[in-house]
Amino acid sequence: MDCNINDDLLNNLQVKTEKPKVSIFGMGYVGAVTAACLAAKGYRVIGVDPNTVKTDLIRQGLTPIIEKDLPELFQQAKDRGLLTATDNTREAVLGTEMSLICVGTPSKANGAIDDKYLLNASQQIATTIREKSSAHVLVYRSTMLPGLLRSKIIPLLEEVSGKKEGEGFHVCFNPEFLRESTSVHDFFNPPKTVVGTNNKVVADLIFGLYSGFPGPMIQTSIQVAEMVKYVDNTFHALKVTFANEIGQVCRHLDIDSHEVMNIFSQDTKLNISRAYLTPGFAFGGSCLPKDLRAINYLAKTLDLDIPLLASLMESNRRLIEKTVGEIIALGVKRIGFAGFTFKAGTDDLRESPIVMVIEQLIGKGFEVKLYDRHVAMARLIGANKDYINKTIPHLASLMVPSLDILIKECDVIVIGNRDEEFREILSKVGKGQTVYDFVRINGSFKNGANYIAIA
Ligand SMILES: NC(=O)c1ccc[n+]([C@@H]2O[C@H](COP(=O)([O-])OP(=O)(O)OC[C@H]3O[C@@H](n4cnc5c(N)ncnc54)[C@H](O)[C@@H]3O)[C@@H](O)[C@H]2O)c1
Repeated sequence: MDCNINDDLLNNLQVKTEKPKVSIFGMGYVGAVTAACLAAKGYRVIGVDPNTVKTDLIRQGLTPIIEKDLPELFQQAKDRGLLTATDNTREAVLGTEMSLICVGTPSKANGAIDDKYLLNASQQIATTIREKSSAHVLVYRSTMLPGLLRSKIIPLLEEVSGKKEGEGFHVCFNPEFLRESTSVHDFFNPPKTVVGTNNKVVADLIFGLYSGFPGPMIQTSIQVAEMVKYVDNTFHALKVTFANEIGQVCRHLDIDSHEVMNIFSQDTKLNISRAYLTPGFAFGGSCLPKDLRAINYLAKTLDLDIPLLASLMESNRRLIEKTVGEIIALGVKRIGFAGFTFKAGTDDLRESPIVMVIEQLIGKGFEVKLYDRHVAMARLIGANKDYINKTIPHLASLMVPSLDILIKECDVIVIGNRDEEFREILSKVGKGQTVYDFVRINGSFKNGANYIAIA
């Protein structure tokens, strides 16, 4: 979104009326709940839907969907004169300052989303925006794949309205997190409120709709907001499937799976927490691969199919393979690894996925050099001395004594772990050298010609 938008228009909007009038496109589960709940908060709402059975019901103060608490909310909204419904888009857009778009985005046979309802609703709204003198705000709530708003919907809105986004109208993405059957409660108690827009005035306008609700209010870019919704839902599916597979293993061992998961869930440091949720490179070490193999073996002995748990090692292996391919594709011979234990602060090299990358590169004839002060120390005195000298002597011999030497002698520097010392690498590399970063050492996500963050 353009940052230098005409903020005056939005300021006027806020001054004109404390609570903007809202039209809601799509009187399905999300739209109907949003309409009734915003009316309960005192907003004037027009529900829009081509299905006149739904709009007739709403006009009579009846709910178009079955959901706890909705009958009362629709009746109250009608009695207070705050909620009406129409199939006339023009009337709805002209009569309100903002439109919430909650139309369906069902699956196509190939898994893609069918965006025809989104495009239709957008086209209809844009046709009326053409004749509106004030800036209309479009708030997309339908779940849509990242990029769709920017690449398809905003261009369509601009073409049909003849106005520019950020000037004649404003667009943002505001995903919905309610669950059917508890949706009214969820609407008033969201886990978070996310608004995708670069414009703070627009974001504040939307946060105003949800003022007083619990949970963080987060402003981010449109694309991140679009992605967040998919990450949430895929994670929920992952959790259900994970718990179900654990449940199957437990049941066949006559172990109470609910008790197991209850104990599991009480660990809010490592389990139900942010731990292990930072995208980066493959897992490794002396425990995760070993224990995953063991539980998969156990399932095999029980004749149990646990495809999710079985897929984890394979997914990990494919990331290692992809990384090797990307390093090879850089087209240089001398590759330096800054850090090759599986995480900083350890000398444990057992099943280090970085070691697997290194060995494949050596096998393909690349000139590899390694620097890791923890391994260097362990080589002389640590408990890992024997492992390093006996199991990977070929790697030990590739070690250089300092980071500066590694940088001087290599064309690509792979940052393998988050050792503090590696923060200097980005400022020390010269022209023609590339940094391939497994850990986003400086928090940057700006990939460029000479810098690649793995994720
Ligand atoms: N159902 C949920 O629990 C839930 C939760 C969060 C997000 N979402 C997302 O929200 C969106 C809506 O889901 P839903 O379950 O409410 O859908 P739904 O199928 O129940 O309702 C969609 C409504 O949109 C109407 N519609 C179609 N074209 C229209 C147009 N041009 N103008 C006005 N209305 C139009 C349809 O007639 C229908 O009544 C989807 O993208 C969905 O993925 C759903």
